[in-house]
Amino acid sequence: MSEVKPQDGPVLVTGASGYVGAHTVHALLKKGFEVNACVTNKSREDKVAHLQAMVQEDIPGRLSIFEANLLEEGSYDQAMDGCAGVLHVGTPMGYANVNTPQEVYDGALAGTKNVLASIEKVSGVKRFVFTSSFAAIGHPAPEGYQFTEEDWASDGRGSDENWNLTNLNDKGEVGYAIAKVELERLVYKVARESDAFDAISACPNVVLGPLLSTSHELAGSWQWSLGRLLGGKVCKRGYQHLWNIVDVRDVGEAQALMLSSEQCKNGDRFQLCATDESGELDVLELKGLLESFYPDMEIGRPHEEMYSIIEKYGKVRQTPIARSDKARNVLGLSTTSIEETLKATCESLISLDLVKPIAK
Ligand SMILES: NC(=O)c1ccc[n+]([C@@H]2O[C@H](COP(=O)([O-])OP(=O)(O)OC[C@H]3O[C@@H](n4cnc5c(N)ncnc54)[C@H](OP(=O)(O)O)[C@@H]3O)[C@@H](O)[C@H]2O)c1
Repeated sequence: MSEVKPQDGPVLVTGASGYVGAHTVHALLKKGFEVNACVTNKSREDKVAHLQAMVQEDIPGRLSIFEANLLEEGSYDQAMDGCAGVLHVGTPMGYANVNTPQEVYDGALAGTKNVLASIEKVSGVKRFVFTSSFAAIGHPAPEGYQFTEEDWASDGRGSDENWNLTNLNDKGEVGYAIAKVELERLVYKVARESDAFDAISACPNVVLGPLLSTSHELAGSWQWSLGRLLGGKVCKRGYQHLWNIVDVRDVGEAQALMLSSEQCKNGDRFQLCATDESGELDVLELKGLLESFYPDMEIGRPHEEMYSIIEKYGKVRQTPIARSDKARNVLGLSTTSIEETLKATCESLISLDLVKPIAK
């Protein structure tokens, strides 16, 4: 049996300080796990204070914070020693242009191989939970197509001259998507060949929900983009299609369940998406919901281009349609309502002073 329970020993989380990582740590602590949370810089208050604040009387788990870097070989050996499970959440992201698309691709590969190498060195790890992305699932498909875990981003790319590793810096998120596809396949293969652990992936779509630290407001991220609307500005992201939204707390909970579930086996992937069509919204629908939550505030607007698309076609592309059905049915994940997710995102952006509301 490769599922991991709190009594089996500590579990390691990479990217623990980040938006998804921190909520994953929280879900694990609530379930009583001893968590070795890995961050790149322990001395940065905005990277660790929100993790330390999780340690409270009613939380049964134990937290240790380690410093490690995905791009340094052997960096996770010490933190992984004695661990029964690994949740590999962190990766160099492209937000705020901190990394080029090529660096995002290279960093994802180098980082994951480095973490896998530590697993092989320390022994004792029974399960590896990999944070992949819906980017590893979504592929060109007719409008309204319903994506499932059977879909791969590499499907139907025969005539797509963009789907390769040439000139990644000119191709936006292609390198990120190819990396997630390659890495999912790699982790299942390494796990299968090792026979010591199994590998399971989470494939989240648009992640929103409460930010726990000012460091979670990363320019270009979905939560930052929603903050543009909330702050009365122009939201330029995702105006051509639907935002398929999952709550960050549900992503954390799902990853903790993937670690401990007896129902999971090597190669399982779980798309973490909308619960139903209420979580598949275009930017004007998001704007409408924010206006209903905050009637006295000036809410922003989408990119001008969205109005032209609607004038021409009546609506933006009704894609991607994808649901968390498998996570709900197999893991028993209960999901948060879209209203609660959006309200919690907005309230955290305001309370962390990341968005200054403009009164009407
Ligand atoms: N947010 C979404 O909408 C979404 C959707 C699908 C999938 N995902 C996946 O979720 C995961 C987390 O993303 P996020 O949105 O939470 O982004 P995030 O807040 O930027 O978190 C990224 C994390 O990666 C860590 N990291 C980056 N470079 C590193 C390095 N060289 N060594 C060690 N750690 C490093 C960062 O650690 P430090 O802070 O300590 O530097 C940070 O904690 C990623 O794998 C991403 O692909 C996210």
